[in-house]
Amino acid sequence: MIPDSFKQELLHRVDIVDVIERYVPLKKGGANYSACCPFHTEKTPSFTVSPTKQFYHCFGCGVHGNAISFLMEYQGLGYVEAVKDLAESVGMKMPEFEPRAKKPEGGPDLYEIMERACDYYREQLKATPRAIEYLKGRGLTGKIAARFGIGYAPEGWQNLEGVFPTYADKALKDVGLVIDGEDSGRRYDRFRDRIMFPILNQRGSVIAFGGRVLGEGEPKYLNSPETPLFEKGRELYGLAQARLAIRAVGRAIVVEGYMDVVALAQHGVEYAVATLGTATSATHIQKLLRQTDEVVFCFDGDAAGRKAAWHALEVSLPYLADNKTVRFLFLPPEHDPDSFVRQKGKEAFEKKLGDARPLSEFLMEELKSRTDLGTAEGRSRFAHEAKPLLRQISARALQLQLLKALADTAGMAQDEAAHFMEIRAASGLGARPASARGMDRGAQAPEIALVRKLLRCLLSKPALAKELPATFLDQGSPEARALIAVAQYCRENPDTEGNIVVDHFRATEFQHLLEANQADLLDQKLEAEDMEMELRGSVVLLADRHRGQRFEALRVKKDRTAEEEAEMLRLLQERKLVPANAPNNAIISGSRSTP
Ligand code: UTP
Ligand code: MN
Repeated sequence: MIPDSFKQELLHRVDIVDVIERYVPLKKGGANYSACCPFHTEKTPSFTVSPTKQFYHCFGCGVHGNAISFLMEYQGLGYVEAVKDLAESVGMKMPEFEPRAKKPEGGPDLYEIMERACDYYREQLKATPRAIEYLKGRGLTGKIAARFGIGYAPEGWQNLEGVFPTYADKALKDVGLVIDGEDSGRRYDRFRDRIMFPILNQRGSVIAFGGRVLGEGEPKYLNSPETPLFEKGRELYGLAQARLAIRAVGRAIVVEGYMDVVALAQHGVEYAVATLGTATSATHIQKLLRQTDEVVFCFDGDAAGRKAAWHALEVSLPYLADNKTVRFLFLPPEHDPDSFVRQKGKEAFEKKLGDARPLSEFLMEELKSRTDLGTAEGRSRFAHEAKPLLRQISARALQLQLLKALADTAGMAQDEAAHFMEIRAASGLGARPASARGMDRGAQAPEIALVRKLLRCLLSKPALAKELPATFLDQGSPEARALIAVAQYCRENPDTEGNIVVDHFRATEFQHLLEANQADLLDQKLEAEDMEMELRGSVVLLADRHRGQRFEALRVKKDRTAEEEAEMLRLLQERKLVPANAPNNAIISGSRSTP
């Protein structure tokens, strides 16, 4: 862990405007700077940088963060790397931190080791006609093999001994290139007699390999284990190569296999990436939706493919935006994208892509197919299953569209359906528009609005946390839980700042909530001093609501104890509804309604 104090110092020394301007030309407008967002395709600028608050936010795609996160996103750097880059740029020395961190400091450069192994495998491919024939047999040219850095790990147990000066080096094991034999204690190469597919991170560095047997054999693909460089669920095979094409075409395809990506590229479909033998993850979706407005999942037409697609749908829901589309393409059962494009060509494949089913359609069809809509029970079950899905969608227009369709199918009126699903109907409360990441899920109870306001106060002026009595908060909502966690952090770190708070809760359940609330500060005119007033006002309101609720709970109770009667009186007094010196019994019996 890099200490928060170091990050804070670092973020003080750099100016986010300078950092971003190195890569993206910014235009000043009012208090903020803006640009066309570098993380998704757009024609009008919705990427905003606040020089006073030192964060950026895109109202189009929801990317959000400080100077560190910008470098991570833009350069595809890891957290530690981004901090290091930034620190170097202002002449700060990285502190020593726990070795648990992603990249071991000091030791040999793990990236360099992977690069060297990759070069070796590529040379070996050139020298192995059998491997070349295999790739040719699968329709690949030398040019495409080179573009993907495809290589060959020869037969034999210790070939890497000749590549690295110290084969016994711990680092070779750390990056997953060798395995230490359990009994013999003898070390040997992980990849032997396999076609090697290097897996690159967004910056283009080799972080892992997938190795395929030539022909039949088990396992068909052998992959690098998780290492300090490689976290399977975060990476997409082919993204580094596909990046430009994805931006140019405005679309990304997600397929299942290495060979699908490479074969598609061979046929001119250069915007495909693959998950690495894992289910689609939230990180995958976020990564892709940041770069493009349209993602098409292309799965096999069999039951497993359908299941994988449904999983991808569920994972995507929170990240949808009204200007983004996610679609699903199911190929005929006998095909995968590789065989399809090889047999039928680019045009046929792209025509299929054009017919891919929008997420909304897939969702409706799948839910319908699960129940008998001819019965009331079936329709109820349909509504019941739709509810958690619909509630996760933060894209308002899409949510409303789906609400309509679901209501029709379930045989409900639209507002009935909205009520049942606990989301705001079209004719809703006129609440503020959902921010891009859309934390504005469904009907916003007034209490939540207050809690959000408190959150914004703390993000704007963390020192205010000491004024916040957290006890009366109902911990049920994510907002309240976030507020309690943030308040506690701020109390423990009285000198912290909003940016550090948001950073501290990165990769926790509160990340998006905090980002969205920090983004709301962008169009807030209030200065930090006014925040104090805001906070006090909100606290008073919340406390009062809380007392009201408590009073009501006691009021409807049948047998109240004397203590409870006394508490009711105290609540009324605190709410200034009766004078402080009023006798106990006089009020309670007389006030049979909520104050
Ligand atoms: P498939 O079994 O569908 O293979 O696995 P494929 O992509 O069509 O491969 P080819 O065409 O026979 O060469 C899809 C993906 O699942 C992972 C790999 O990422 C593969 O590309 N996988 C599969 C493994 O990791 N290990 C395996 O043994 C098999
Ligand atoms: Mn295949």
